[in-house]
Amino acid sequence: MTATERIAICPGSFDPITLGHQDIIERALRIVDRVVVAVSWNSSHVKQGMFTVEDRLTMIREVFSGEPRVEAAEFQGLLVDFARTRSADLVVRGLRGVRDFEYEFQMVQMNRTLDPTIETLFLAPAADVSHISSSLVREISRLGGDAASFVPEPVLRRLEERSRSA
Ligand code: PNS
Repeated sequence: MTATERIAICPGSFDPITLGHQDIIERALRIVDRVVVAVSWNSSHVKQGMFTVEDRLTMIREVFSGEPRVEAAEFQGLLVDFARTRSADLVVRGLRGVRDFEYEFQMVQMNRTLDPTIETLFLAPAADVSHISSSLVREISRLGGDAASFVPEPVLRRLEERSRSA
């Protein structure tokens, strides 16, 4: 790491990573030098989840296997604490529309109170992926639907493996 390198944390549950997440991470790469895709594994997230944290990380690494500026890491505890451990002063979140706004606005204000040195940057996803959510991908997959339009190939492969073995 050089002294001038700018690192952004892109936090989330990523259960699983979608084309919407991928779009936001790629946009963040145009702004910063490196992106740490940070998978939260607080117990509430993991309990309701479809994939283990290890699987989520593996899929993110596969999606960005050609991009050395992206790192996938897990974190437990507060996001601001994790950001500090990675010398990051920027958090990037995707904002899909008004439905995301209230939750995101609350989080940014609380994170800012916890650590005013960490800034949050909201990025709008491409219009053709702005409707995608991991929870709907999980539902579509559980109900036997085709998730090909919503997730990157490594995720689709795992979803298909799961429905074959179900
Ligand atoms: O993909 P999600 O589920 O919307 O991501 C939410 C996430 C993981 C970014 C958020 O829950 C988070 O930052 N969790 C870490 C714990 C924390 O710092 N909580 C206080 C937020 S104000």
